[in-house]
Amino acid sequence: MLDGKRILLIISGGIAAYKTLDLIRRLKERGATVRAILTKGGAQFVTPLSVAALSGEKVYQDLFSLTDESEMGHIRLSREADLVVVAPASADLLARMASGLADDLATTALLATDKPVLIAPAMNVEMWANPATQANLALLEARGLLRVGPAEGDLACGETGPGRMVEATDLLSAIERFFERPTPLRGRRALVTSGPTHEPIDPVRYLSNRSSGKQGHAIAGALARLGAETVLVTGPTRQAPPPLVRVRAVTTAEEMLAACEDELPVEIAVCAAAVADWRPVTRPNQKLKKDGEPPMLELQETPDILARLSAAGPRRPKLVIGFAAETESLVANAEAKRARKECDWMLANDVSDDSGTLGGDLNTIHFISPDGIEDWPTQSKDAVADTLADLIVAHFQGGAGA
Ligand code: C5P
Repeated sequence: MLDGKRILLIISGGIAAYKTLDLIRRLKERGATVRAILTKGGAQFVTPLSVAALSGEKVYQDLFSLTDESEMGHIRLSREADLVVVAPASADLLARMASGLADDLATTALLATDKPVLIAPAMNVEMWANPATQANLALLEARGLLRVGPAEGDLACGETGPGRMVEATDLLSAIERFFERPTPLRGRRALVTSGPTHEPIDPVRYLSNRSSGKQGHAIAGALARLGAETVLVTGPTRQAPPPLVRVRAVTTAEEMLAACEDELPVEIAVCAAAVADWRPVTRPNQKLKKDGEPPMLELQETPDILARLSAAGPRRPKLVIGFAAETESLVANAEAKRARKECDWMLANDVSDDSGTLGGDLNTIHFISPDGIEDWPTQSKDAVADTLADLIVAHFQGGAGA
């Protein structure tokens, strides 16, 4: 069932760590490979020897261990896994994960990993209920972290309520469910662009727009969840990198184009970036001075990445999808844009001031394909991403371009 699956297990401090030993045994029985990181707190509850004996692997404990680093760096440790499981996940470890600390091997591996993370919290009921813990958890879940439990019941501290780590069998079921999830895009490569670009005027100023990157990042996350090997080429944004997605950060339209072309061939390309349409012709090395007349900015067009991908000849992705952000004549402009840029599908959205789309959480899409136009209801950008990802799955399952 879990044959060949690689689990990186992080054991932090908590009486529930004894259940994790049982989990290791069960994972091994099902054919998984288990590598374990034991935090300082974790080592107060279970010994490295018992973890090593059950997992059949060396146990990793020390961020600065020369032997660990020469055998297996913490980056490799965090990457050579299909799933990272944190059990028990203490309130302290959750807080350190939420703030992005990397002051021991466990937090460093968690910060460096590009793999999904499943946590099994275990703590006192009041610690669990504390707004600080709940805020940390909300932040981590918004970044795509998966969670099982805690369960309710008698706690080791004598109190009763939610806070118990789930039983090893429940955690095992959650891990099995994770590996059983449908991945209809497995084996397909997807490229998504997101965010704005910055086109430098001088070393400190640039031309850009108000794109937040929310929609593009959500699409990359949705495709990756469905099994696509996804790369997100993104301009400067505040969005967290979606789980399972490889991110290439760029600044200008030129850089975005180069990164996209470098990623070809892909089967699916979604251009959700709000690429700046113009860039200053010159980029002085010194900051423009305010003395004298205001400077005249001479602009030239940036490369059209969507059009270039659509015209990539034999390297053209099987499905090229663009966005048309419009403030007037939405559908007519978007249809004309689809024809001009020769993409397969176009998602038209209204970005006028009162639409709230730019930077907001909601989006109202008119979906334009060779089959016609569909008006989608106003929905969250995450829901738009899931709807689009489902259409992409249906497109390939329907045999088109399969
Ligand atoms: O022409 P316009 O900017 O409205 O087109 C929007 C669509 O084209 C989006 O999919 C956007 O990502 C893409 N685009 C691009 N490169 C540009 C301009 C737009 O990929 N330079």
